[in-house]
Amino acid sequence: MTTSRWMIYGANGYTGKLVAEEAVRKGHKPLLAGRSEEKIKPIAQHLGLDYAVIDLRNHDALAKALAGIQLVFNAAGPFIHTSSPLIAACLEQGIHYTDITGEIPVFENIFSFDSQAKQRGIALIPGIGFDVIPTDCLARYVADRVPGAVHLELAFSGLKHISPGTMKTMVEMIPGGGLVRRDGKLIPYPLGKGAKQVPFPGGSHTVIPILWGDLETAYHSTGIPNITTLMAYPDAMVPFLHTGTAVLQRLFKIAAVRRLAQRFIGMAVKGPDMHARETARAFIWARAADEKGHEKQAWLDMPESYQFTAVASVLAIEKIFKLQPKGALTPSMAFGADFVLDVDGVRRYDKLKS
Ligand SMILES: NC(=O)c1ccc[n+]([C@@H]2O[C@H](COP(=O)([O-])OP(=O)(O)OC[C@H]3O[C@@H](n4cnc5c(N)ncnc54)[C@H](OP(=O)(O)O)[C@@H]3O)[C@@H](O)[C@H]2O)c1
Repeated sequence: MTTSRWMIYGANGYTGKLVAEEAVRKGHKPLLAGRSEEKIKPIAQHLGLDYAVIDLRNHDALAKALAGIQLVFNAAGPFIHTSSPLIAACLEQGIHYTDITGEIPVFENIFSFDSQAKQRGIALIPGIGFDVIPTDCLARYVADRVPGAVHLELAFSGLKHISPGTMKTMVEMIPGGGLVRRDGKLIPYPLGKGAKQVPFPGGSHTVIPILWGDLETAYHSTGIPNITTLMAYPDAMVPFLHTGTAVLQRLFKIAAVRRLAQRFIGMAVKGPDMHARETARAFIWARAADEKGHEKQAWLDMPESYQFTAVASVLAIEKIFKLQPKGALTPSMAFGADFVLDVDGVRRYDKLKS
């Protein structure tokens, strides 16, 4: 398996580099790619890997660079700007495509290629990181235990430090406002509203609806028509979230402000350091319920989100080579609800200790 040829696009980014290091640790030799030779070359040299400089706007150069590649892992986000040319090239050449997007329009676009992917005999599996492997696997786990479930809630806590690309992606998404899924449709939901308490291992937390990839992927994986995705916030922040996000939403509608914010983030945000990645924990809660109030809750206690992403994405790539899934799939559709438990340090609970 370690001789399979695969590519990491965006390998010089915070997360792409973590995935490249994890791949090398496990004996893989991915081709490292990105748009800047100055940034890609030193990482490839340090890890002893080949590299390619690819401008995604150049179709012929992209096609040439993919010759002999069996799988592309895209770590270059915001994915709204990078996924389409890579997916088109993968479909043309019969190459598996994966990424770590959490962006709903990107998921929607990728799932629309399901029949083409099946015809080409390839898998398109977006979201093979913290967003959405654990939430997707746990959604599937609780949904399977409540036949006919019509409500699904997914919440997470522990996202204390975030990477530059995650923050840049949030800048792109905030102008669109919040969303929830109701009766199968995505509908607007005011950012910063709807706080509630959710039990997590170690105590309950205040969570608030946020825009998370599972609004699309969990619908795809479970078919449950009403989905809310929530994130834990410190109690002191909660009263200010609605006004704060409303101001940001108005500001980030202006393209020049978004560009300025992206530049500032690129210079100032570094992402969690090794100590934070190795010591912090993240927690997931899922609840599925039917019309009669029968419900199932479950929890995951897991490694820090970027540490998880690096380890889980390489495991997912290994699974794709082994299982050869076909079509546009969520992680739980491709690998099953228990896949998340293959990641070192992940524990699933059906009950919390009182
Ligand atoms: N699913 C998950 O759990 C998960 C986990 C971590 C990160 N993410 C997502 O992954 C993405 C990357 O995060 P990060 O913190 O690693 O970002 P980062 O450090 O800012 O790196 C982003 C990478 O993408 C490249 N890139 C960005 N726009 C591009 C474009 N238009 N064309 C070609 N390359 C482009 C950058 O190239 P240059 O350096 O040349 O600009 C860089 O290699 C973000 O969208 C983030 O939200 C998801």
